[in-house]
Amino acid sequence: MRLKDCHNFADFRKLAEKKLPSPIFHYIDGAADDEITYKRNTSAFDDVDLVPNVLRGVENIDLSTTIFGKKLDLPFYCSPTALQRLFHYDGERAVGKAAQKFNTMFGVSALATVSVEEISSMIDTPKMFQFYFHKDRGLNDSCLERAKAANFDVMALTVDTITGGNRERDLRTGFTSPPKLTLSSLYSFATRPMWGINYLTKGKFELPHLQDFVKEGTSTNSSIGNYFSTMLDQSMNWNDAEKLCSKWGGHFALKGIMSVEDAKKAVDIGCTGIMVSNHGGRQLDGSRSPFDQLAEIVDAVGDKIDVICEGGFQRGTHMLKALSIGAKACAGGRLYLYALAAAGQAGVERALGQYKTELERDMKLMGCTKISELNRNNLRFRNL
Ligand code: LAC
Repeated sequence: MRLKDCHNFADFRKLAEKKLPSPIFHYIDGAADDEITYKRNTSAFDDVDLVPNVLRGVENIDLSTTIFGKKLDLPFYCSPTALQRLFHYDGERAVGKAAQKFNTMFGVSALATVSVEEISSMIDTPKMFQFYFHKDRGLNDSCLERAKAANFDVMALTVDTITGGNRERDLRTGFTSPPKLTLSSLYSFATRPMWGINYLTKGKFELPHLQDFVKEGTSTNSSIGNYFSTMLDQSMNWNDAEKLCSKWGGHFALKGIMSVEDAKKAVDIGCTGIMVSNHGGRQLDGSRSPFDQLAEIVDAVGDKIDVICEGGFQRGTHMLKALSIGAKACAGGRLYLYALAAAGQAGVERALGQYKTELERDMKLMGCTKISELNRNNLRFRNL
């Protein structure tokens, strides 16, 4: 199987599985507990049907949307995800350049393997920094200052990782950052020698936003669950979020909002956007899917801040449904991560291009030429 054989999300996933040692593949692919929420994030789209209109002159399709005051050519973007150089040696460099090519937003995690300074000097497409509220206040200040100095457009505070999710696949495979060989994973590392050669020869694995402050993740092996549970500040509250928001002084979002109550509070503390998200099903299993929760949140705050639906997207039609409910944009991690693992920048470009082509085709079939023409009249919810 090669890149040219990848025609959809499932194909990229298959190729990623072939390329990555199993602990690394399952770190991307896995989720919390029984992975019910993870599956529901995608299956939720199937409970709603599209109702198309015809004879509307659809030769020109405009997929652009504006979020956080920035116009994107696409109504979807690459959510920030951690540790990208484990998935492909180019890591964030590959994803950033692909996002730039499509003029969409690129999210960079505090747990990224390439620095905000380097990303910023490389691409000028809109950029979001994903902030984790650490116990170490020096680390927090440093992240904020560096992202500001690097002209990042949006600061997103992660609010759904107050403790580590129970990712049983990681427990079984022994996944850590940096990765370590275990008896059970030896075979899968040995049968994917290119991964190991690239890991050892394409530059040192680093977490440039963290490593001056904490050794976990770089010189000490740590699972992500353990990292969240021990390094992040569990006392984080609305007061802290409000202070961060005013300290940042620009577009500020909460990533991981699921309730209307919290969405309203986000407006009150000065946020300009929220990501309706359950962290890809990786934290609280049994949590509702972002798509199922979208309508009530859009109804409550959609006229005041940008509501972004994050997670579960595998098809253009999934995005059409979320946009019809009223999301300003769609976002995801696995959306591009399997493609990154499959073939680096070329893989991510192919994946983003395919979503774009799907969306253009689907818009034509729906009889819509602009994102703003999508609305709930296009949808019918099945009686479950
Ligand atoms: C995860 C974090 C790092 O879900 O976003 O693994």
